[in-house]
Amino acid sequence: MKEDLKEILYSEEALKRRVTEMGAQISVDYAGKTPLLIGVLKGCYIFMADISRSISVSCEIRFVSVSSYGFSSVTSGKVKIDKNLDFEIAGRDVIIIEDILDSGVTLSALREFINERGPASLKICTLLDKPSRREVPMNADYLGFECPDEFVVGYGLDYAERYRNLPYIASLKPEIYS
Ligand code: IMP
Ligand code: MG
Repeated sequence: MKEDLKEILYSEEALKRRVTEMGAQISVDYAGKTPLLIGVLKGCYIFMADISRSISVSCEIRFVSVSSYGFSSVTSGKVKIDKNLDFEIAGRDVIIIEDILDSGVTLSALREFINERGPASLKICTLLDKPSRREVPMNADYLGFECPDEFVVGYGLDYAERYRNLPYIASLKPEIYS
């Protein structure tokens, strides 16, 4: 697995430090509230596990299934949201927990989907952001790191469902995904 990697961009320690800071900020901002954290599967699973344990206010944790990439490394431009939610969004303080913001297509579709259901508030928390790749306007309210324009894997992020189990985030050698 490691032979496919180009460079480690965010070490285990750097991720832990930053995610802890983000959780602390959310705890301050949502003092006295019970935010509803909605994780975007599957890339968020490790980030959600870590950030939720850094949040000291009571919160509800849910997930939605969203897919846009299939087995490719570039967005198809089509977003499929599994709309069979078994929870209420109306009146809730929602925070979307996402692994990486790239073209913005996924999050803008999900934001619209959630906004149609009448949340009290909606914020976006993403571990990584590749602003140079944006195709639709989208900004994160909570951001871990601004990421260079490279395909990255690890800490939940995959290429073709692999590499999610790396404890750090690394760029993938271009020959692996091109
Ligand atoms: P967007 O719709 O283009 O913003 O894409 C967001 C989704 O694409 C993320 O939730 C990831 O699942 C995936 N993605 C984008 N860039 C990368 C990357 O560098 N590595 C792994 N997944 C990525
Ligand atoms: Mg993915």
